[in-house]
Amino acid sequence: MADIVDTRTDAETALARAVETLGRGVPVAIPTETVYGLAADATNPQAITRIYEMKGRPRFNPLICHMADLAMAERHAVFDPLSRRLAEAFWPGPLTLVVPVRPESPIHPLARAGLDTVGIRVPTGIASRLLAAFDRPLAAPSANTSGRISPTTARHVADDFGDRLELVLDGGAAKVGLESTILKVEGETIRLLRPGGLDAAEIERVIGRPVTRNDKAGATIVAPGMLASHYAPDAPVRLDASDVKPGEVLIRFGGKALPGEAEAALVLDLSPAGDLAEAATNLFGYMKKADAVGARSIAFSPIPATGLGEAINDRLQRAAAPRG
Ligand code: TXA
Ligand code: MG
Repeated sequence: MADIVDTRTDAETALARAVETLGRGVPVAIPTETVYGLAADATNPQAITRIYEMKGRPRFNPLICHMADLAMAERHAVFDPLSRRLAEAFWPGPLTLVVPVRPESPIHPLARAGLDTVGIRVPTGIASRLLAAFDRPLAAPSANTSGRISPTTARHVADDFGDRLELVLDGGAAKVGLESTILKVEGETIRLLRPGGLDAAEIERVIGRPVTRNDKAGATIVAPGMLASHYAPDAPVRLDASDVKPGEVLIRFGGKALPGEAEAALVLDLSPAGDLAEAATNLFGYMKKADAVGARSIAFSPIPATGLGEAINDRLQRAAAPRG
């Protein structure tokens, strides 16, 4: 089993161990405000290969490179004025920007799946301190086996990878609970490649421009996390439930009871108060809880599609999609 080192009690020791481990080309799981990431030196091809192998991830699916700040990001990629405005407004935070990589950047092509662009994110908290200490970009996809639910606690990560992982930094439960929102600026267009933990409406409000939804169905992989089946729990998922069947797990929203709850295996409420940010934080952990009680299936009651509800519904659609 991986060593779980608490960053809240002894950050210095945790950081020193992480830097040493990453320096050997070995991936380390780290907390971020969105979900836990499986981090490796983005300039080291062996280290990146280990990430793909550990996750069972297809190599055409590029990794997000994490940076300490915008200055570090600008050493590796070219920021047009609009991308820079987005970075200045929302970094550090749950936003990834896809920008052209500089030819001289040491980020290895394997991390970018050979693309001439790179997805960059500047996280908050201990991840930011680790990036400053390591002083190199960290490629970090969500720290889960490919296709499965993203981890929001150190325990989720350790359970998923077992002996295949040396070290998990524990920073407590992820605050946002959904992966970052991914944007790509194309000319004057801000394209949404993946809805996520930063509400697109908030981006529109702050930047004063529309965010264009990506509807280029069948186009080449623009953001392969957008594969149909993803974020899947073990149990099959039933959406827009208006009742719950005997033995099912119900995950509901807004404190609204559904017929049949007395015979449900378990009833969870993403946010009894109807707060979408709270629902986002709880979503993946509740799916894990449903699996842990051996759910026959998981019924979800409808969740509003506004604000963070866009990203929540995106993840639910993928969790419910036919498994490949
Ligand atoms: O919140 C997050 O974004 C988390 C934490 C750990 O930072 N990371 C994460 O990584 O969700 P991952 O690998 O699970 O998702 C990365 C997504 C994929 O859908 C990938 O296709 C997209 O980012 N991506 C990365 N680089 C890209 C690029 N150059 N062009 C288009 N999409 C890119
Ligand atoms: Mg992922």
